[in-house]
Amino acid sequence: MSIPLLDLNRQYASIKTEIKEAIDEVLESQYFIMGDEVAEFEDKIRTYCNANHAFGCASGSDALLLALMAIDLQPGDYVLTSPFTFFATAGAISRLGGIPVFLDIEKDSYNLDPVQVKAFLEGEHPVFRKLNPDRDKIKAIIPVHLYGQMAEMDPITQLAKEHGLAVIEDAAQSIGAEYKGRRAGSIGDFGCFSFFPSKNLGAFGDAGLITVRDNSLADKTDILRLHGAKPKYHHSLVGINSRLDTIQAAVLSVKLKYLDDWSEKRRKIAQIYNQLFEEAGVVGSLDDCSGTCDAMGGNHCSLPENKIITPKETTGAQSANGKHIYHQYTIRSKKRDQLMEALKAGNIGHSVYYPIPLHEQECFAYLGYEPKDCPISHCASKQALSLPIFPELTLEEIKKVVATIVDVL
Ligand SMILES: Cc1ncc(COP(=O)(O)O)c(C=O)c1O
Repeated sequence: MSIPLLDLNRQYASIKTEIKEAIDEVLESQYFIMGDEVAEFEDKIRTYCNANHAFGCASGSDALLLALMAIDLQPGDYVLTSPFTFFATAGAISRLGGIPVFLDIEKDSYNLDPVQVKAFLEGEHPVFRKLNPDRDKIKAIIPVHLYGQMAEMDPITQLAKEHGLAVIEDAAQSIGAEYKGRRAGSIGDFGCFSFFPSKNLGAFGDAGLITVRDNSLADKTDILRLHGAKPKYHHSLVGINSRLDTIQAAVLSVKLKYLDDWSEKRRKIAQIYNQLFEEAGVVGSLDDCSGTCDAMGGNHCSLPENKIITPKETTGAQSANGKHIYHQYTIRSKKRDQLMEALKAGNIGHSVYYPIPLHEQECFAYLGYEPKDCPISHCASKQALSLPIFPELTLEEIKKVVATIVDVL
């Protein structure tokens, strides 16, 4: 039995007829750009996310870029974010000449740590002393809702308010996730979503969407994605070409109907994984993990070799009104390499998100970050391992994944 990390064929088989009908309607209309399906989908997502405005665009990467363009990010401006994320989060900052300020993550949620953000904004963080930024040039915070779990938005938005910064939620992995009953993309000034095919709500190619809170920023975002023109051929701004294809909107509208059910199934699978690992006695405590990994001058991680850290629903557990939508089910282990070998031998899909944190990427070397500037991110990049999770994964498959891991431990 081989078990993929993600099996989109199983999902497609269950909705094939509806999808084909939806695509066929677009083909019959021949309206491939900004057809009716785009506005319909935007409206549905706006309601789904409880956001004020929603605009489709070409990708999650473009959604981030559009948000930063909408706040007029200038070369030399600083944007605070997590180094433990997909490259696009920081890539968008750099593409506008901005400087990504990487601050460490929480060891339980893997999300940007508000304590680090506070220390930086108060000028008491080693990264502040390293970058020595002009305070007026600090413009925004991009919390990333990694793996399907939202960042600690209350303290982050509070800090942003105190320091006059925009909050751009990178919700690429977290559509439908909740923080204190509020959906991803509804809390910050902007919410950026990706519909890359492997996402929980995946298109049939690249696609993305941006939610916007403020009315005037919404108008600006709307036209920035259309080369800055409104009406057509009248350019008040220099924008980009970033639209959501009508065919993608049609596909996504069909899939959106099933999203909550799929998310519940993912949550159930995560619970089963957690329970089976607990029963096998391999779950370590977060207290075992001091956060002083080898980046901290030779202090090796104190997590026992035969234990793993399973995902913790931090915002969920703390608020009772949180919801992790398990885009990934990610464990941590000091024996990651051995686990990967065993999974490979057992034909079980797995992946490392992310093997090199952004503060250690070659393209940001000019900023002078060292691994120890974000030690938890560094440690997570050495230990994180994502296991198969998708709504159609069977109990038999879950048990095989768990048995393979437990065997190695
Ligand atoms: C956290 C995060 N941000 C941004 C992106 C970029 O999205 P896209 O691939 O649609 O450009 C992704 C997805 O790949 C992501 O996971």
